[in-house]
Amino acid sequence: MYPFLEALKRQNKGRIPLWIMRQAGRYLPEYRAIREKRSFLELCHTPELAAEVTLLPLKRYDLDAAILFSDILVLIEAMGAKLSFLEKEGPVIANPYRGEPLHKARPLTEVFETIRLLKPSLKVPLIGFSGAPFTLASYWIQGRSSKDWSEAKNFFWKHPKEGKRLIQALTDEVIAYLKGQIEAGVDAVQLFESWGQILGFEQFHELSLKPIQQIVEALRPTGVPVIVYSKAAAGFAEEIAACRPSAISVDWNCSLATVRKRVGKEITIQGNLDPMVLYQPHDVIRREVEGLLKQVSDDPAYIFNLGHGILPDVSPDAVQVLVESVHAKR
Ligand code: CP3
Repeated sequence: MYPFLEALKRQNKGRIPLWIMRQAGRYLPEYRAIREKRSFLELCHTPELAAEVTLLPLKRYDLDAAILFSDILVLIEAMGAKLSFLEKEGPVIANPYRGEPLHKARPLTEVFETIRLLKPSLKVPLIGFSGAPFTLASYWIQGRSSKDWSEAKNFFWKHPKEGKRLIQALTDEVIAYLKGQIEAGVDAVQLFESWGQILGFEQFHELSLKPIQQIVEALRPTGVPVIVYSKAAAGFAEEIAACRPSAISVDWNCSLATVRKRVGKEITIQGNLDPMVLYQPHDVIRREVEGLLKQVSDDPAYIFNLGHGILPDVSPDAVQVLVESVHAKR
């Protein structure tokens, strides 16, 4: 019995399951040591290394799930985007998408191999993932992270036909990619929609929700639970729940109790501690976790997480306090 999977079935009576977005990342000194010798993309593309990095946080902390080490952008790289990660800048694409004909993605066999390597050594469920189509499209068009994403937003206004075609192609690729991960052995998958919030109401429906619904439907026959994380989009919680994923993952600018009232009982909720809390003194971390968990104390369909990825300069001791505080609860 895994509390994480039980919670995804809305019947967890065990302890509150906990995992952390970006749990295998730069806040871990052992991750930074590996990164001194290898580039980030090298880690993503080498199964032995990706598997080793996936396990790092589990060696330190009592976590209830592992998440595959990779990045959402390897899928568009496999479709032809020339991707690199620069030290202070993050992802950069040398050939941003401008409406060219689309090619099928190279199968990401190294990711499937990582999953197969990991499965026998794991004592907890393994989460696979993909970017949601709109977030993947935004990076591909914009070519890098952005404050206003004006290039990406403009593309969909100026070239609606090409925009729709791109989103549909990405939707098909995400489905095939997640099916591959499921075949290789992941126990759940999470969709990351990091930039849906830049869209207006109607475009959010068309470019974010519709493809997510299509992906959820396509994966339903596998029986593997799908978690949808749409950042800064708690305003659309009802609409996301209506896509009928197993879980909705929310960031910190909403209250769990209110989200539960809005989405009803037939869906699991994941979230939503403000990652900034981890910079505060240990007693503040304990107090904030306690306050958060009061809202979900007997909820059989709740998974603890941060509202977004853990930040790179958080102290590993703060994470220890966080894990202990959550598990002290139930
Ligand atoms: O959660 C995990 O531990 C699994 C692995 C994972 C990474 N990125 C590792 C990573 C996952 C699931 C992601 C998702 C991801 N990647 C998202 C969606 C979630 C979100 O943050 O909104 C996005 C938008 C990306 C794209 C991406 N990757 C950016 C913008 C950056 C640079 C910003 C940053 O934090 O440096 C990355 C790099 C990245 N992805 C790192 C890691 C561990 C750091 C790479 C390094 O070692 O330098």
